[in-house]
Amino acid sequence: MSEHPVNDHIDNLLHERRVIAPPGDFVARARVSRGEYDQMYRRSLDDPDGFWSEVAGELAWMTPWERVLDWEEPHARWFVGGQTNVAYNALDRNVQAGRGDKRAIVWEGEDGEVRTLTYAELLREVSRAANALTALGVQKGDRVTLYLPLIPEAAVAMLACARIGAVHSVVFGGFSVSALADRITNAQSKVLITADAGQRRGSLVNLKANADEAARSAPSLEKMLVVCRADCGVPMQPGRDVWWHEALAAAGDEHEAAALDSEHPLFLLYTSGSTGQPKGVQHTTGGYMVGTYLTTRTVFDLREEDVYWCTADVGWVTGHSYSVYGPLLNGATVLMYEGAPNHPDWGRFWQLVEKHRVSILYTAPTAIRSFMRQGDAVPGRYDLSSLRLLGSVGEPINPEAWMWYWRVIGGGRCPVVDTWWQTETGAIMLTTLPGAHPSKPGSAGLPMFGVEPAIMTHAGEELGPDDGGLLVIKRPWPSMLRTIYGDDERYRKSYWSEIPHVYFAGDGARRDADGYVTVIGRVDDVLNVSGHRLGTMEIESALVAHPSVSEAAVVGRPDEVKGECVVAFVLPQSGQQVDPAALRAHVSREIGALARPDAIIVADALPKTRSGKIMRRFLRQIAAGQPVQGDTSTLEDPSVLDRLAATPTT
Ligand code: WT7
Repeated sequence: MSEHPVNDHIDNLLHERRVIAPPGDFVARARVSRGEYDQMYRRSLDDPDGFWSEVAGELAWMTPWERVLDWEEPHARWFVGGQTNVAYNALDRNVQAGRGDKRAIVWEGEDGEVRTLTYAELLREVSRAANALTALGVQKGDRVTLYLPLIPEAAVAMLACARIGAVHSVVFGGFSVSALADRITNAQSKVLITADAGQRRGSLVNLKANADEAARSAPSLEKMLVVCRADCGVPMQPGRDVWWHEALAAAGDEHEAAALDSEHPLFLLYTSGSTGQPKGVQHTTGGYMVGTYLTTRTVFDLREEDVYWCTADVGWVTGHSYSVYGPLLNGATVLMYEGAPNHPDWGRFWQLVEKHRVSILYTAPTAIRSFMRQGDAVPGRYDLSSLRLLGSVGEPINPEAWMWYWRVIGGGRCPVVDTWWQTETGAIMLTTLPGAHPSKPGSAGLPMFGVEPAIMTHAGEELGPDDGGLLVIKRPWPSMLRTIYGDDERYRKSYWSEIPHVYFAGDGARRDADGYVTVIGRVDDVLNVSGHRLGTMEIESALVAHPSVSEAAVVGRPDEVKGECVVAFVLPQSGQQVDPAALRAHVSREIGALARPDAIIVADALPKTRSGKIMRRFLRQIAAGQPVQGDTSTLEDPSVLDRLAATPTT
């Protein structure tokens, strides 16, 4: 935990007083009205067993649960004794309910190619893939790493794993060779599913080449299943590599979904924490299924006829919960788009909305801010009248961007839901419900069912209205992470020890008198760059791995578009010159382009206490070009600060 000044960021938000009422037609036909929300929320806290039994009972179980919750802090077991299958609930159940011919996935590639899979077709594909994985030797409980572009096969592969009880671990296609190798090794995956290449801004991203290189330092890997996406002639290693289409063609298209224990792990998803090593957040079958099912339906007010588009890549938790599992569990039609938002131009998203008649759009503030910069005329060229609901996720949305989204994209008709949650929470935790609650731009809003948030001091004292403090959750919820894969001690330490007996989210927040929670940002050494979570320590270890660097300290700096950007203070190895361009390329290679420092400051010393601790608070101030504030007397050499402030940035 670092000494992050929660109150620094609050200022501009404190002055935000606008309240936007939900549109009348939305209120009139809301899935959940204000009164229903109050009543359901109350019940979810007072009678959690009854509440969650009803929700879980809407889904199919092969064996009913005996108890709703076993809670032995910090370990929760939900729907204990129950057996189910998430893929069965997303596919077979919907086909049986008459949605066989309904479009499940509508995919568009960057070049405009469109592919559609109905629920019946998706079920067949997933069944084939499940049979193919089984034929490759994948068994229940085995980990399978996915390193794929945003193509339908990504969803098919996830669901196929879920169908047989294999635990998927999706690694975002933008991560580097070594990031991929580390994640395969940590999970001890035997199988990697990748593609020859992905497409981004008109060029190919050579995933297979990265996978081949990663495989050299990932000894657990036995097989590679390769989707032919770009047909770009990649080499295949005999005995190890298998083409996806060949394996699926050889497999039968019927498969009986495995009956899995409710607590059987569904997936791992690696995310950054306060230390250098990413953590494998582990989610389970029953609770995650119930949580994503309920939140998708209520937060997005989902209807049979909706075309729902969450722009997140499946490499992130948003892509798991709200591009794949949540919407498919609800039988929705999901749009998937592989390319960049600005290729060939900044109208691309709006053209997709117009063409596919998207009615629900869920995207990130960083995207909204970059669209906003291009001006109103760009979206103005498209027919956005199909939209009826907008969502935001991933980082705090500044009120100006919120208003722009609401006014220009939503035409003042569409409620905007600002949803706060995390990789660890599995599903949306704080939001307004679109037909129930007024919005306060910049504030996520109220707790979802079963979620009991509080704002606390470090000492665990609960704070009152408008006081800035630490966001915690006071009781377990179904879609919460169960552990950090292979490191339960880290699970305890990161989430359940910072403040006793509550889940520590790592965010600073405040709550107003109406109960609306405004999340201000991370209070640990985690950055949020364009909605992507990065650990400062990870970037620091990448930097010091470069021969020209002896020491490094990384901090975030507020950025108009990215929300936060990466600033690196580096000390050169004696007798060495630091070449900023080479250092940036090095970080891209080590982690991925998303971690590349925006600014590098070559320093002769870092501000350290006498015990050697780097005072990042001062570095954050210097990085932001602000005057240094606070007690500098604990520093070994306070003059370092002046020298740093006078050092040019490259
Ligand atoms: C962190 C979690 C949630 C899925 C995508 C990110 C920040 C997320 C909001 C929001 C303010 C937000 C928090 C959180 N965050 N949503 N609506 N308002 N901050 O998942 O990579 O696990 O990051 O993103 O700081 O802790 P993640």
